[in-house]
Amino acid sequence: MSMQIELIELNTGAKIPSLGLGTWQSDPGLVAQAVAAAIKVGYRHIDCAQVYGNEKEIHWPAPMKKGSVGFKPENLVQPNIPSTWKAMEALYDSGKARAIGVSNFSTKKLADLLEVARIPPAVNQVECHPSWQQDKLQAFCKSKGVHLSGYSPLGSPGTTWVKSEVLKQPIINMIAEKLGKTPAQVALRWGLQMGHSVLPKSTSEARIKENFDVFGWSIPEDLFAKFSEIQQVRADLTCEIYFHGSIVKFYDWWFLLQARLLRGTSFVHETYGGYRTIEELWDGEI
Ligand SMILES: NC(=O)c1ccc[n+]([C@@H]2O[C@H](COP(=O)([O-])OP(=O)(O)OC[C@H]3O[C@@H](n4cnc5c(N)ncnc54)[C@H](OP(=O)(O)O)[C@@H]3O)[C@@H](O)[C@H]2O)c1
Repeated sequence: MSMQIELIELNTGAKIPSLGLGTWQSDPGLVAQAVAAAIKVGYRHIDCAQVYGNEKEIHWPAPMKKGSVGFKPENLVQPNIPSTWKAMEALYDSGKARAIGVSNFSTKKLADLLEVARIPPAVNQVECHPSWQQDKLQAFCKSKGVHLSGYSPLGSPGTTWVKSEVLKQPIINMIAEKLGKTPAQVALRWGLQMGHSVLPKSTSEARIKENFDVFGWSIPEDLFAKFSEIQQVRADLTCEIYFHGSIVKFYDWWFLLQARLLRGTSFVHETYGGYRTIEELWDGEI
């Protein structure tokens, strides 16, 4: 296994390891073990959740009442991104943070923030994987020097309420077979070759190691080009055509579409908070 982790330079000059360990939905009893195993393997970037007291980013552009617990709609308050960003800038000025960033910002929200920011965000952490490639946001981030960090890089297969098919994608599996890698490694390598950092979550030591083994090799150009054909989440459609009570034709095919898996429905409400619809939350990028 190559232990040569690649570093990415941010717009502040600070460097971020291109692979991090995700910790969302890691059982509290397992997370410490997972982090210890990851550090031993060579991880130096851990993506922590608020519950572990480690929040450093604007996590969603949808604030909640101070001290509130859980996602009750009545806890949602009106966002004031410029004033929140001022507080983040003060944190940077104080030297406590070497870089400050945002998460789940659409192209429009990022553009609006860049208009008023004294210190531009260094990172936008967003859902990104071969079935939600974020082409528009990726190009915008690149043009503005904002690093895109990809969460759910494996398509969040452990999240029960998400229909994730990333690791089952035929193209990913074909590439994995050709290169003698696993589908997870191929999905992660795609993100790295796109210039993102990737944050796979695992509490299994074997998979923490497997996910780290994505350096020192690459997906060759001809196979990399195949990812533009994926651009989809599997959406089964079956259709039967009857004639005089008997099936004469049976179709089973899947649609080609890009789809966001984590839509943030908890941050949308007809009365509370700043967003009435999913379209408004993502400024149409859904
Ligand atoms: N900013 C945000 O709003 C936001 C939102 C979502 C996620 N995140 C961050 O991004 C991280 C990753 O996203 P995610 O947790 O949604 O999903 P993910 O990393 O795409 O997938 C994690 C799931 O894949 C399994 N897995 C890990 N390695 C595997 C492998 N090599 N082969 C097969 N299965 C594997 C894990 O199970 P095991 O644990 O059993 O291995 C877990 O069920 C989060 O943990 C969190 O830190 C941020």
